[in-house]
Amino acid sequence: MKIKKILAAALALAMALSLAACGSSTDSDEPAQEETVAEEQPSDETAAEDPSSGETTAEDTAPEGQKVLILYFSAANTKDTDAVSSATPMAGDVSSTRWIAEIVHGQMGGDIEAIVPSVDYPLSYNECADYAKDEANNDARPAFEPLSVDPAEYDVIFIGYPIWWYELPMVLETFFDTYDLSGKTIVPFMTHGGSRDGGTFQMIQEREPGATVLDGIAVSGTAAGSDSARQDVLDWLNTLGLK
Ligand SMILES: Cc1cc2nc3c(=O)[nH]c(=O)nc-3n(C[C@H](O)[C@H](O)[C@H](O)COP(=O)(O)O)c2cc1C
Repeated sequence: MKIKKILAAALALAMALSLAACGSSTDSDEPAQEETVAEEQPSDETAAEDPSSGETTAEDTAPEGQKVLILYFSAANTKDTDAVSSATPMAGDVSSTRWIAEIVHGQMGGDIEAIVPSVDYPLSYNECADYAKDEANNDARPAFEPLSVDPAEYDVIFIGYPIWWYELPMVLETFFDTYDLSGKTIVPFMTHGGSRDGGTFQMIQEREPGATVLDGIAVSGTAAGSDSARQDVLDWLNTLGLK
């Protein structure tokens, strides 16, 4: 318990420093989550690399007889286009979560789609942090734009998101309220600035008790775009037993 408290305090300090480094007066209340590891925090650093390079084509690799859908949410998902957001460590010109989504798509095939909030998130880190904290405090259910696909028609649903205030972004709560994914296989992947998955894989299982939630992957947002992160994602996909 003592160790957990130390880790939580360390993460809170790291987040506070990160926010301060962005030059804002944003307060740094400690989000309620004990299982945290303060190993890294988000930054604006970019890692220019094509997320889909060097991979086999999607059509070649889709799990036999299984329809695969890859959904991902990021603050950079806006209605007009993917935006450049300081709330998002960009991997080349895509968000860290989208970068992983595209690797998954390249390996697993199927369809890929962004979850786009109906109201854009602020693109500055500090404003986004404040906005998301208000949403979490109010247990909000922010709307998202209609998907062009029906998740009911898929067998395996990969879902990607950044951890926000130690939890699922609230728009993901809206998603899980909207869709009953009973009978589906859900495969989470997420990006973070030090909290790792923050217990969100278990949260997804609780939101979708009728689904089978496989072991997800947690990738540091600032590592997205690197060869080692790509290899981690590829290795993880191979452990899933979907092919
Ligand atoms: C609103 C907000 C809240 C965040 N909260 C946390 C957090 O609690 N723990 C953590 O490790 N990282 C946190 N981060 C960092 C993001 O999880 C990380 O930068 C992630 O890679 C962003 O994904 P993206 O590039 O797809 O937007 C937060 C970032 C934002 C914008």
